[in-house]
Amino acid sequence: MSEKIILTGIKPTGMPHIGNYIGALKPLIENSRHNKTVVFIADLHALNSIHDAKTIKQHTYEIAALLISMGLDMNNAILFRQSDIDAVYKLNTLLMNITPKGLMNRAHSYKAMLEKNAAAGDDMDAGVNMGLYTYPILMSADILLYNTDIVPVGADQKQHVEFARDIAEYFNRTYGNLFRLPEPQIGADAGLVPGLDGRKMSKSYDNTIPLFADAPTLKKLVMRIITDSKLPNEPKNPDESTIFLLYKHFANDADVANLRRLFENGEIGYGDAKKMLFNAIDAQLAAPREKYKSLMSHTDELDEILATGAARARKIANNTIERVMRAMLG
Ligand code: TRP
Repeated sequence: MSEKIILTGIKPTGMPHIGNYIGALKPLIENSRHNKTVVFIADLHALNSIHDAKTIKQHTYEIAALLISMGLDMNNAILFRQSDIDAVYKLNTLLMNITPKGLMNRAHSYKAMLEKNAAAGDDMDAGVNMGLYTYPILMSADILLYNTDIVPVGADQKQHVEFARDIAEYFNRTYGNLFRLPEPQIGADAGLVPGLDGRKMSKSYDNTIPLFADAPTLKKLVMRIITDSKLPNEPKNPDESTIFLLYKHFANDADVANLRRLFENGEIGYGDAKKMLFNAIDAQLAAPREKYKSLMSHTDELDEILATGAARARKIANNTIERVMRAMLG
């Protein structure tokens, strides 16, 4: 086991789809088999867009149940709810005072909102609350609190991790070397998971396969994958087929090589290939899906697991926040 500390936060905004799973959750779960991994459900970050407590709580349970049922290694991983750790609110307040406003103005996610408003002819700040504006400061607090070395994130979050590093460097120069400098780690093929229509799988394209769709729904969705009109006996390029590109993530090497051959030799039609894809996904997800269902109907167990995680996280976080408060306030 390496000594590096890997940390990820997952915003509870709804059931992840298999694109999220392949891009972010699967690497995280695999990491947890070999490394100390800090994983939290970023419910405070969901607050800037979701103003309904029940919804946030429900989504929080969903993410926790999903990670556990997909095999997060609970010996190496500390799994908790962000809002359970008081030190994060404190560090957020303290970091506010050393973070330049200009840094926040440069944040891609904030700038995207401004551009959207401009395009719609709305007031520049329409729909922007301070939670959204200062989002990178809270995220820096998350990262710095747990002595994080590596933050595996999607490309869209890279800038936020760089901000955390900038803020840590500024702190260290001013108050002494207290924070470890985190580095982003960008998932290689996170963007390459195609959705039902062949474009990148994304909620905004409405082309997703939810990770825990029940078997009949899963089958229906797989059968809806858009293909060209090649006949079964025509050779097809597997690397341009959504069916094959998804299959690669759910089948073993021999089965993947076999489907590649069938495509290239014109020995399989799209209908049969879809059946193979459905069977491969279902074989991998059927057991976790059942475990997920059972956890979701015993949320008291999830509460207990999250409380245990929070107690472990609190030990690290309290140690950091005490040192930061002493350095800044005496
Ligand atoms: N901002 C991340 C996202 O939207 C979630 C997140 C919050 C996070 N805090 C974090 C990710 C700390 C990594 C590290 O996906």
